[in-house]
Amino acid sequence: MDRNIEISHVSKKYKNGVTALDDVSFTVGSGVFGLLGHNGAGKTTLMKALVTILTPSSGTIRVCGRDTAAQGAEVRKRIGYLPQELVMYPSLSVFDFVNYMAGTKGIRDKTKVHEALKAVEMEEYAKRKIGQLSGGMKRRVGIAQALIGEPQILVVDEPTAGLDPEERVRFRSVLSRYARGGRTVLLSTHIVEDVHQLCEELAVLRRGKLFYAGKADGLMQRVEGKVKLLCLEDERQLAGLDRKAVVLQTTYEKDGIRVRIMDDGGNFAGAKTVTATLEDAYVYCMGGKYYA
Ligand SMILES: Nc1ncnc2c1ncn2[C@@H]1O[C@H](COP(=O)(O)OP(=O)(O)O)[C@@H](O)[C@H]1O
Ligand SMILES: [Mg+2]
Repeated sequence: MDRNIEISHVSKKYKNGVTALDDVSFTVGSGVFGLLGHNGAGKTTLMKALVTILTPSSGTIRVCGRDTAAQGAEVRKRIGYLPQELVMYPSLSVFDFVNYMAGTKGIRDKTKVHEALKAVEMEEYAKRKIGQLSGGMKRRVGIAQALIGEPQILVVDEPTAGLDPEERVRFRSVLSRYARGGRTVLLSTHIVEDVHQLCEELAVLRRGKLFYAGKADGLMQRVEGKVKLLCLEDERQLAGLDRKAVVLQTTYEKDGIRVRIMDDGGNFAGAKTVTATLEDAYVYCMGGKYYA
C-alpha cells in the first residue's frame, strides 16, 4: 500500500522548553486520516512540521517520498494546507481571495480558481465578500485555497470546530470526495464524531506522544466487551466509582444517573454490557471523562 506520509521519530521542543512532540512515528495512506487529541496535544505542531512551516528538533518526515528538511519546495508543491487560524480579508470577494492565494502558489489560471470553488460547493458565492459569509462558508473557502492546484495531500487543522451540524456534514462530504483516487486528507480534530464518520485510519496524540495509530476498529477493540452501563439512584454512589473503573460518561435523568464505564478490572461483572463506540475508546485512551 502507498503511504503518502511517513513520520519517523519526530520530536519538537519549543524555545520556551515545551515538548510539543515526543518521538512520534506513524504513516498515513490514501483516504481521510484523522489526527485526534485534546487541546495542546501537539496536532498543530505536527501539521506545521508536515507543511514545512517549522522544523522538528529531531526525526524525519517524508511526504510522497520527499524529505521535508532536504526537499521542502518539492514537498510544498504536493501539499495544500488549511491552518487552524487562516487570515482572510473581509473586503475581498470569495473569487478574489482564492485567486490571490493561487497567485502566491504561482498559479495564474483562473479556471483553477473556479474548479476549487466548485469542489467546495462555493461557486455560486464567488462574488460575495468574505466578510458576509457564514462560518461554514468561510471554512469552505479556506479549503478551496488549500486545494488549488489539486495537491496530492491536503492538511486541514480543526476544520469543523465551531460549525453547525449541517455545515459539518457538508464539510465532511467535501473532504471525503477530495480524498478519492489515491489522495490523502489529513484532518486534525478533537471531535471524535468527525473521525468516526470519515476515517478508516487515525492517530491519537496525548501530550505530545503518540498513543495509537492504525485502524479505527483496532482502537475500538481495546474497549469492546468492557463498556458497561450503570444506573445509580443518587450522586453519593458516584463517589469512588472512578477508582474501580474508568468513567466515560454520566447523564442525569429524571429517574437516576446513567453512568457509562470501562470496566477494565472486571469489578462490575453483573452490570449490563453495551456496544462500544469510538468515543468510548477515545475517552478511555485519554484516561476517562475526568482527565484534564
Ligand atoms: N510557538 C510556540 N511556542 C511555544 N509553545 C508552543 C508554541 N506552539 C504551541 N506550543 C505549545 O505546544 C503544545 C502543543 O500545541 P499544539 O501543537 O498547538 O497542540 P494542539 O494543536 O493539539 O492543540 C502546547 O503545550 C502549546 O502550548
Ligand atoms: Mg491546534
